[in-house]
Amino acid sequence: LTGAGLTPLLAARARSQAAPAAPGTPEKFRRPMPLLPEKKPLARTGRSDLYVMTMQPARAELLPGIPSDVLTYDGHFPGPVIRARAHRPVVIRQRNRLTVPTTVHLHGAAVPPDSDGDPMDVIEPGTERTYHYPNRQPHAPLWFHDHTHHLEAENTYRGLSGSYLLTDPTEAALPLPKGRYEVVIALRDARFDEQGQLAYAMGDRARNTLLANGVPYPYFQVAARKYRLRLLNASNQRRFELRLADGGPLVQIGSDGGLLTAPHTTDRIALSAGERADVIVDFSRHPVGSSVVLTNTTGPGPAQDIGEVLRFDVVRTAHDPSRIPERLRTLPPLPRPDTQRTVVLRMDEGGEHPGAYIDEKAYDPQRVDAHIKFGASEIWTVTNANARAEHNFHLHLVQFRILERAGEPPQPAESGLKDTVFLAPGETVRLQALFNTYRGRYLYHCHMFEHGVRGMMATMQIR
Ligand code: C2O
Ligand code: CU
Repeated sequence: LTGAGLTPLLAARARSQAAPAAPGTPEKFRRPMPLLPEKKPLARTGRSDLYVMTMQPARAELLPGIPSDVLTYDGHFPGPVIRARAHRPVVIRQRNRLTVPTTVHLHGAAVPPDSDGDPMDVIEPGTERTYHYPNRQPHAPLWFHDHTHHLEAENTYRGLSGSYLLTDPTEAALPLPKGRYEVVIALRDARFDEQGQLAYAMGDRARNTLLANGVPYPYFQVAARKYRLRLLNASNQRRFELRLADGGPLVQIGSDGGLLTAPHTTDRIALSAGERADVIVDFSRHPVGSSVVLTNTTGPGPAQDIGEVLRFDVVRTAHDPSRIPERLRTLPPLPRPDTQRTVVLRMDEGGEHPGAYIDEKAYDPQRVDAHIKFGASEIWTVTNANARAEHNFHLHLVQFRILERAGEPPQPAESGLKDTVFLAPGETVRLQALFNTYRGRYLYHCHMFEHGVRGMMATMQIR
């Protein structure tokens, strides 16, 4: 065949075989979504599960055929899944074999301050440190990521994040999908440079490739039955608004802090950076041989590039003994608040190095911004003072309850325990938290990492 004899389509195919497609625009649904590896403990002692993890550079094939340099926990992009049980402590020895300092923060967990991964409490390259996670809290889909002062955005973006599923007897007793029918899906965005390498720039607005478990726009083969999807938004800044392309039902059963009190059927799951959703999808509505696509409708980037995230291909039937109970858990009534406080998030809009503030102050690790009495129940009124920019708000150490969003009671998706909450421009959220677990200094901040790097972080001290 010569070029002249080719139809335009065949010619295009021949070209695309000769040279890889332009980096950053991978073809959709060409590769399977990998399952995240489960990390096994090195030892289980009478008292705790001991893990050893190595932070190391690796090369991952993010775009087909192009190895990209990434930072990893144990060589995996994204990091592995740790499974923990309430009241069974986990001890993790973290070895830093990278060329940058790191810290490890277990997001959503109540841990002593010296195991919280404080930005200034770093693991220098070539050294290691041991984190203690008591797990004295109910089940929750936690995750861990880097939190090094000024480096957390880039370190996490380049791969330093992983999942930590904490379970308890309440959750384990429910007849929800288990085993291979419970799937962790870490979603994030990324930008690739001309060479197909993962490209990082502060506040980059061109991260318009979406990855599910480290692969851009994969497919995932499922059986025609119910699945429990443990969704994590591991993006630095992007908010997701996820739907099934056919408008089919998504049954949300949990959020950041574990199960909701009751399942909530919706057509849309919204996740700002750092948030999690626990969702049941019933693929038995689809005939074997058909597909349904998970879509997203948030920018940046042209909508057609980012609309489709992940395709579920229904490839077989399977027995399904799972059920979604009408009651999932009970939550304790909110105690009477002892204190009220306000928090204002604001960043400069425009300018080359816009500042970002909490209560008009940029983060200073030496300063304590909120003094909290041990045992206090507090109501925080948190406002996004920007007219255009989105923020969200994350408190370390506690799982809180949302009392109000924009003057209204929370929607079902936000009615459970939360550790991160979205704030649209101009919006105010009231939340209530109980500080009765550990004393010491902990962070609160916007979880859009680049806002945190620019200063939108503060310190609370509980004593
Ligand atoms: Cu997930 Cu202070 O962070
Ligand atoms: Cu922000």
